[in-house]
Amino acid sequence: MINQTAQANAGSFGSDQSLVALVPRINIHAFCDNQQTAETMQMAAGDRRMARAHTTIQLGGIMAAVQVFQTQATPNVLLVETHGSRDVILSELGELAQVCQPDTKVIVIGHLNDVVLYRELIRQGVSEYLVAPLHQMQVIETIANLYQNPKSSPLGRVIAFVGAKGGVGSSTVAHNTAWMMSKRYATETVITDLDLAFGTAGLNFNQDVSSGIFDALGQPDRLDATLIERLLTKLGDKLSLLSGPGGVDRDVSIEAHAIEVILNAMRSSVPCIVVDVPNMWAPWIKYTLMHADLVVITATPELASLRNTKNLVDLLKSARPNDPPPKLILNQVGVPKRPEIPPADFGKAVGIDVACILPYDAQTFGTAQSNGQMVFEVAAKSKAAEALGNFVQIIAGTDKPAKRAAKLSLPLLGKLSMLRKK
Ligand SMILES: Nc1ncnc2c1ncn2[C@@H]1O[C@H](COP(=O)(O)OP(=O)(O)O)[C@@H](O)[C@H]1O
Ligand SMILES: [Mg+2]
Repeated sequence: MINQTAQANAGSFGSDQSLVALVPRINIHAFCDNQQTAETMQMAAGDRRMARAHTTIQLGGIMAAVQVFQTQATPNVLLVETHGSRDVILSELGELAQVCQPDTKVIVIGHLNDVVLYRELIRQGVSEYLVAPLHQMQVIETIANLYQNPKSSPLGRVIAFVGAKGGVGSSTVAHNTAWMMSKRYATETVITDLDLAFGTAGLNFNQDVSSGIFDALGQPDRLDATLIERLLTKLGDKLSLLSGPGGVDRDVSIEAHAIEVILNAMRSSVPCIVVDVPNMWAPWIKYTLMHADLVVITATPELASLRNTKNLVDLLKSARPNDPPPKLILNQVGVPKRPEIPPADFGKAVGIDVACILPYDAQTFGTAQSNGQMVFEVAAKSKAAEALGNFVQIIAGTDKPAKRAAKLSLPLLGKLSMLRKK
């Protein structure tokens, strides 16, 4: 019974839609009572969402914790596992309470699926009671939730788009995806164009762009949701852009730390963050891909793309075991007279299925680019628009478009904003 519950929990994690917050810079100490739980804790500690926390894991259960904290300050989060009965758990926790600082959050991992025990523990100030065996994502989510402000805005999802090589259409796919997320699914979306010198987001949306990204990268530690808001260029009702004007007159070296701060600041205020990652390799590029909630690789059906995609997929799969594998888009398929690797073979060779096949369509993509419009705008009925639309539906996790908000009349809107000012 207990096993089934735990497995059911485990099964719900790792899906594309699971969005678990990042664990902040805290100390975590776990006292496990069996090897399996210690291994689960180890896997949790190695996950990207726990990268900022400092985690110590040892065996010994509640009484070992009591021993250790006689002489040592308790951490921010203390996890203790026990195989004891209800009475034993409560009495051991009584001893732990004697040595535990009041601001330490205690999570108890037990082996009894017992609601009465759960209620009693919560009443006594335990932050959470989890029934073993656990899945590592359950551990991460429980810790992250302790630090999530329930009043804070929805948690943003970072989707990083990267090309298997230059010119494969990664930016085009990223921009169209973001546009569709904001229009069809009414999701507030920000495109972050990290291609400072050659980025095309401004051009593709026919917009003059300020140098917001330089301000953000130059002073990452001053960044918060308000400052980011000021650095954005508005592209549509629910679509904005953080980017630069493009050009080679500035030398900027990007630090992974700046990317971390920018993306985390956005996560707290924007539901969908599309990151256009340039095709190059540097520590900050690797950081961006490792820490995104989802990575989308765009490739063309030839050998160089295949090799690079395989390398990226292998790296991401091994470094992000608790995340969905990257999504693969094969683009520019069907160039006349060109020998191409068939999509099924491509997918097999790189070890993930092809999520979307986009035809080569010079007219549609060329027109979109020269007009500064999206494929959905210039050729809504084209095969490319249809395939892209299906792909965005996978990303959005729903086939239902957002309901149109009832149109408010202008005088009412005026009154609302006056009310807000008061
Ligand atoms: N399916 C396609 N058919 C024809 N042209 C395409 C297609 N996808 C992208 N393009 C064109 O390829 C060029 C490179 O696209 P871009 O998105 O800038 O690539 P990347 O960001 O991967 O370097 C652009 O001119 C774009 O319009
Ligand atoms: Mg690009």
